[in-house]
Amino acid sequence: MTIQFNDETFYGDFTFKNSDWAIKRFPFPFHEDSYMYSVNMEPHKSYRPGSVFERTFDVDEHYVSEMKDRARVLANDPLRCQSLPHMTLAGWDLVELIMEAKAAEYPDLFELHKDGNRWRWINKPLGIDDTFTFLDESTLPYGPMEYITRQTQGDFAVLDQRDDNLWMDAGMVTTQADWSLDFDIGMNFFEWHAPVPKAHEMGIFVRALKFLLNIQQGQPARRLNWTMTVNPLLDTSPENYHKWGVMKQGLTRENIGDKQHLRVELQTFFRLPRSNALVFPIRCYLISFNDLVTVPKWARRLHRVIRDLPEELAAYKGFIDNRPLMVEWLSQFDDGSPTSDGI
Ligand code: HEM
Repeated sequence: MTIQFNDETFYGDFTFKNSDWAIKRFPFPFHEDSYMYSVNMEPHKSYRPGSVFERTFDVDEHYVSEMKDRARVLANDPLRCQSLPHMTLAGWDLVELIMEAKAAEYPDLFELHKDGNRWRWINKPLGIDDTFTFLDESTLPYGPMEYITRQTQGDFAVLDQRDDNLWMDAGMVTTQADWSLDFDIGMNFFEWHAPVPKAHEMGIFVRALKFLLNIQQGQPARRLNWTMTVNPLLDTSPENYHKWGVMKQGLTRENIGDKQHLRVELQTFFRLPRSNALVFPIRCYLISFNDLVTVPKWARRLHRVIRDLPEELAAYKGFIDNRPLMVEWLSQFDDGSPTSDGI
């Protein structure tokens, strides 16, 4: 296989690690020295070989361990995966989208063989070889959305489109930045975005929804979002806040480089063909401060972004108490020289 998969954990002893390759292709999200919310959408096209944007669904060295972590979270809390009854067809659309993309773009890892509605799916990294009948749920071990998202990195929100709005009527959410599928299920675009500061007044959500309602099949879009996480935790859910919230209090000058992680979400948007649903994969990439500062222009820029971020955003993203420590630590890598564009 072309990718060497890490054997690592995202809880307990936290053995997660990025290789030099993963650091080099990390999706650093800041294109200037300051940050504010915007409707930062662009076509989901491949323009830089090797980047995380190259393939429809990026597979990397964390794949196998991330899927193990998802299975662990689901075993403890099955409500992380929910699909209202009218969303089953969208689940099949998603099966088709992911299987076709992965088989075409990673032929050494995944194979899809079709004989009419009889499909054979081979997932080599996870050791899966299943034959099933497309659109017949009884031939899969789980519902279609659950089946395929147990094999695909990132969270998935599957949105029904009706009444000029999007409704969160299905999802697989085990790697989220402090929001809950069980709380949001059945909500619309404005309702689930209600806790976000500033963006409503700026008109961002009205414009974003307009854009999303018009996404066409075969013309996916993407954007990046980011936050901060202490320890390489994928599951920072409200359900488990009692476990990970306290970890934020353990940050010190000595351990911040190792423990503090920038968390970047590659969010993509695809129209699904039969159901007309919209699928929203949210792929999480983590990088420790120690690894991040190996790229000097990232270190300089991150220092300035965190230092100057509006209070409301630092509070909403959950790092306002640790911000002074982060800024002090990052400042040692910022000599004041310009950060070049295009990073
Ligand atoms: C935050 C879902 C599309 C902008 C969030 C949250 C959820 C969410 C669940 C967390 C809210 C909370 O605190 O409970 C979705 C879904 C989308 C979508 C399912 C696809 C239909 C967009 C788009 C934009 C956007 C297109 C474009 C501007 C934001 C922003 C935040 C946010 C700015 C705050 C993030 C932060 O500061 O870390 N979104 N979103 N969302 N969303 Fe969306």
